[in-house]
Amino acid sequence: MTGFPPTPAFPVTRMRRTRTQNWLRRLVRENQLTVDDLIWPIFVVEGAGKRQPVPSMPGVERLSIDMLAEEVGQAKELGIPAVAVFPYTEDNLKTPDGREAVNGDNLVCRSVREIKKHVHDMGVLCDVALDPYNSDGHDGIVKNGIIVNDETVEILCQQSIVQAQAGCDVIAPSDMMDGRVGAIRKALDAHGFQDVTIMAYAAKYASAFYGPFRDAVGSGGTLTGDKKTYQMDPGNIDEALREVALDIAEGADMVMVKPGLPYLDVVSRVKRQFGVPTYAYNVSGEYAMLRAASQQGWLDYPSAMMEMLTGFKRAGADGILTYAARDAAKILRAG
Ligand code: PBG
Repeated sequence: MTGFPPTPAFPVTRMRRTRTQNWLRRLVRENQLTVDDLIWPIFVVEGAGKRQPVPSMPGVERLSIDMLAEEVGQAKELGIPAVAVFPYTEDNLKTPDGREAVNGDNLVCRSVREIKKHVHDMGVLCDVALDPYNSDGHDGIVKNGIIVNDETVEILCQQSIVQAQAGCDVIAPSDMMDGRVGAIRKALDAHGFQDVTIMAYAAKYASAFYGPFRDAVGSGGTLTGDKKTYQMDPGNIDEALREVALDIAEGADMVMVKPGLPYLDVVSRVKRQFGVPTYAYNVSGEYAMLRAASQQGWLDYPSAMMEMLTGFKRAGADGILTYAARDAAKILRAG
């Protein structure tokens, strides 16, 4: 039992008493999702006038750049504080060295410029990792079957700089290379980007829940092998705390746990232990599960989704990256 004095026994204490009325339930509610907690990941694609549905993520579309002002503008109207931009990269731009990542005119950089030009007071977050651009589908450079750490970190630093130059506010390294947060911080500072924020994918697990995302960005088909030599083993939590401690020590402003739902214990431990801004990524597979079940008529998407997002808050997350951000914002607005 928590608290002092100890709770008197039934019938003096009736736990149902505070559940009897809606106003009272509202009054005793401990955790509440607000629109300020939401980061909306979006997928962008080359071309014009495009809205390509992602089959494994019902309700999610890849958007061409000319759609961004309107779509992101709507998110801003709903009060969503930030978007995360992910590119669908054409196969002909994928190379073993992932060089398209450092092209300051690549799809992501052009998308960021477009958003910044048309939508004000909206945060833009960009992933740092090579998987959209690497012909092996890996987050780093592959040499003789090994994902090489230090060479990858050098390219990630350049990728961070071109994204910052495009106007990106939050650099989010999702690659899980060692030492990248410190190197990126140094590179950003050296180029005058002291105020560009780093949200580290600090504890990122080698998960089966990323499948639909890899469809959305077109990296699923190209991936050779798995990501277990850099992403974490799902059985580990002490190791997650070490990862987070290192990223904070290297200069991360915010840390993220990913995936979300199967790792809420990690979110909770991280928030309690470090007290830094802590985010959870409610990943593509988690979103797809809810959508698929609701398409079957087995779950009610809006209520299951809101319950899920509230769970992230209860676990201690300061915010959630979720494909349901706009749906949630609309529900919150309707009250
Ligand atoms: C790329 C990246 C991935 C996700 C975000 N950034 C996939 C991966 O690591 O393979 C997954 C997001 C999701 O599933 O929604 N490094």
